Amino acid sequence: MEKLILENIKSRRSIRKYMDKQINDESLNMLLEAAIYAPSGSNNQSWLFTVIQNKAVLQQLNIIVREAFLESEVNENDYPARKAAKKKAENENYNFYYNAPTLIIASNVNNYPNAVADCSVALQNIFLTANSIDLGTCWINQLSWLNDNIKVREFLFHIGLPIDHKICGASSVGFIDGQVPKAPLRKENTINIIK
Ligand SMILES: Cc1cc2nc3c(=O)[nH]c(=O)nc-3n(C[C@H](O)[C@H](O)[C@H](O)COP(=O)(O)O)c2cc1C
Repeated sequence: MEKLILENIKSRRSIRKYMDKQINDESLNMLLEAAIYAPSGSNNQSWLFTVIQNKAVLQQLNIIVREAFLESEVNENDYPARKAAKKKAENENYNFYYNAPTLIIASNVNNYPNAVADCSVALQNIFLTANSIDLGTCWINQLSWLNDNIKVREFLFHIGLPIDHKICGASSVGFIDGQVPKAPLRKENTINIIK
């Protein structure tokens, strides 16, 4: 059993190309069950998983996100991926969720110190469960960077994401199109054991 779990962990990759085919409800329910059975600080469970499977809604959201990045100002000290986000948005084919058929947004109450930690463990449960049934996923961070963007928040509010929630992360989900990438090499000296 331990081996199966480790194999699942090691074979999971971030997938950035998806087939144009929706996942079935049974698979979606498995992912969401895995998410809500994640641990949470003091058993808070204050998270919310907003699932968007409607193509038109996803495309509308993509337009708003793209505009937000195009209008955003980045400076030298910004996180490299954030700087790259603006550059990528200049491409007219920009799609922040890699055209996946399903996007799961993990949000949590704003004033809760474990908001991101709780959502992160839940997202990892989603990633691993998806991998176990041969579905691809990728952490999608763009919405978390746009927590304070009024247009993004208004749009998400209208589909049920509360204004007093912080978007902590998201996952694209879908059938993998093409080859699964190789695992990046592990960096050295990231473990320290004291006996
Ligand atoms: C907090 C976090 C944010 C990430 N944000 C993004 C993102 O916005 N877009 C993306 O394509 N990948 C994103 N990733 C995926 C990483 O790029 C990926 O995990 C890393 O390159 C290692 O590859 P692997 O997941 O295939 O092992 C994110 C991962 C984490 C943990």
